[in-house]
Amino acid sequence: MILVTGATGYIGRHLVSRLVDQGERPRCLVRNLSRAANILPAGAGKVEFVKGDTTSPASLETAMQGIDTIVHTAFITADHKQSTGNHYEETNVQGTANLVKAAKNAGVKRIIELSGLGTKPDKPGSYMQGRYLAEQMLKESGLDWTIIEPSVLFGKGAPFIKGLTDLIRTSPVVPLIGGGKVMFQPIYVEDVVTVIIKVLQDPERTRNKTYIIGGPAYYSFTQVIDLLLQAMHKQRIKVPAPTPLVSPSITLPTCKASNATLALRPCLSPPSCRNKEYK
Ligand SMILES: NC(=O)c1ccc[n+]([C@@H]2O[C@H](COP(=O)([O-])OP(=O)(O)OC[C@H]3O[C@@H](n4cnc5c(N)ncnc54)[C@H](OP(=O)(O)O)[C@@H]3O)[C@@H](O)[C@H]2O)c1
Repeated sequence: MILVTGATGYIGRHLVSRLVDQGERPRCLVRNLSRAANILPAGAGKVEFVKGDTTSPASLETAMQGIDTIVHTAFITADHKQSTGNHYEETNVQGTANLVKAAKNAGVKRIIELSGLGTKPDKPGSYMQGRYLAEQMLKESGLDWTIIEPSVLFGKGAPFIKGLTDLIRTSPVVPLIGGGKVMFQPIYVEDVVTVIIKVLQDPERTRNKTYIIGGPAYYSFTQVIDLLLQAMHKQRIKVPAPTPLVSPSITLPTCKASNATLALRPCLSPPSCRNKEYK
């Protein structure tokens, strides 16, 4: 049986939907049952909800019973401001440590972690260091692991796109991150789900590997803005801005660290990757 943490999140809810379409009945770790029932395909017992919070070890014990594989997407991303119960360190580092420990105690075989693009060691206590530690503790857990680091996602309601469209809607001026030259390799949310499904289906080949995934094309930040302006039939003044001056709500943690072109390494051939050559 599969346990999905962060099932109410952007990736989690798309993954759960696909699993249900494929006839699976995933268990979903959720913090708020009524909210989850509104977001996820709860009808006719299609999914199993377990109330739990990765920062509360006791709440994880029941969730682990009978679980073979966990897809771990419960993280606080840097585009969310920290708030009570939603601290980066507490959730991303301690929450992952709690999950790994509970999984080992319960005899879970495997964890697939949805991480951030360009995760690397950083200053102690920093957001990036927390993401790095969350990867490291999984690699050192003794469990079978796979880490997926997607590039920025697009799709209906995608946080990155929503942040930009909200900005375009509400402001006459659009700041161009990194002077507009920062490169992105956006990947469609359903392609990310396809990669997760392929990893789930092929435990041998994907065991103890990290997959850095992106879509088939690169776009500069200026190109992304121009495409959105065109789609929204809007015109805005575009002003080059150095990355640190741009509000966190319109930057993406997974992209902030990288102002180079985002590379795609092992690709499991989701639809948008097929027949493409990547460096
Ligand atoms: N979206 C992207 O563009 C993107 C791109 C690259 C990588 N990623 C990575 O993919 C992963 C998932 O991203 P996402 O966009 O799906 O995130 P998201 O939409 O912000 O969802 C986060 C999920 O985690 C849950 N959660 C947070 N703290 C928790 C806790 N202590 N215990 C249990 N659940 C908790 C949230 O539950 P509530 O509903 O209760 O808040 C929510 O379901 C992250 O690691 C992110 O860095 C995302």
